[in-house]
Amino acid sequence: MPKAEVQFAEFGTEYLDDALRLTIQAGWTHSRDEWAMLLGLGFGFVAIKEGHAIGAVCMKLFDGVATIALLIVDEKMRGRGLGAQLMELALEKVGQRECRLIASPLGQPLYRKLGFQEIETIYSHRGVVATVQAPHDVEWATDDDLHQISEIDRSATGIDRRALISALWSKARFAIVRSSGRVMGYAALLPYGRQQVAGPVVARSTVEARSLLSFLFSHHAGAFLCVDLRPHTGLADWLNSIGIAETFGSTAMRRGEPRVDAESSPHTYALATLLFGFP
Ligand SMILES: CC(C)(COP(=O)(O)OP(=O)(O)OC[C@H]1O[C@@H](n2cnc3c(N)ncnc32)[C@H](O)[C@@H]1OP(=O)(O)O)[C@@H](O)C(=O)NCCC(=O)NCCS
Repeated sequence: MPKAEVQFAEFGTEYLDDALRLTIQAGWTHSRDEWAMLLGLGFGFVAIKEGHAIGAVCMKLFDGVATIALLIVDEKMRGRGLGAQLMELALEKVGQRECRLIASPLGQPLYRKLGFQEIETIYSHRGVVATVQAPHDVEWATDDDLHQISEIDRSATGIDRRALISALWSKARFAIVRSSGRVMGYAALLPYGRQQVAGPVVARSTVEARSLLSFLFSHHAGAFLCVDLRPHTGLADWLNSIGIAETFGSTAMRRGEPRVDAESSPHTYALATLLFGFP
């Protein structure tokens, strides 16, 4: 394709409608509001043809760690180098910082070429949740807990994601576990299209993570739930047994050195990859 046909620019809100068209085409259910929130939390680039965005990359930068939240190219324009050029623009902005993402099978070859390495598989569980009993040791968070939730999240991820958690505060509900008055673990529940995404889940143990999720589920019997589990959480069989079955795996990838030991406590048990990529 002649170079002049496609230009690249920063992703401004004027391209949100085009971006929405691209995700609908790919069968992803981002709403316009969710796109706007993603963009508001970060930045991105678009590939433009005849005034319309035909490809987009959207990323966040928290506390020196970059996350590629989304990369997409119009299916009629794939295989012409646009995905690679969008990623190169994004990575130029990231520089030497650590960069994380969740790769679909279509994205993996490109990411490998760009120096990303596979870290782990993320198992997506989906389904209509059965009736689950509410545990006694979990409660809904209040505005006073926002600071401590951000702190627990930082211990687990190594990243100060206060901005993300604050942005979610009005859209999501947060369940927490307390000990001696302090927040020790949390789980968020976010509406995403007609589904509910349970994640992130940060806890000190499998038992605690299961309690947090049980609490969320107990308030949503019959709802369509999505949980994106990290490996070795000890939660997969239980989720399968209550109707939230494992569906497919995606690959978490990283460029640069990790911030935290994967086995650290508190530990991230589930992500909200649908909306935010990794972590
Ligand atoms: C992933 C995606 C963005 C790639 O965009 P693209 O513009 O087609 O990518 P490029 O043309 O720049 O190709 C980059 C590399 O991807 C791989 N690739 C591209 N098309 C491919 C195909 N049809 N089959 C296999 N690999 C392919 C190749 O490794 C290619 O590198 P090469 O040209 O040096 O061999 C695009 O396929 C897409 O939008 N997919 C749907 C959304 C998605 O899965 N996004 C990734 C989320 S993590």
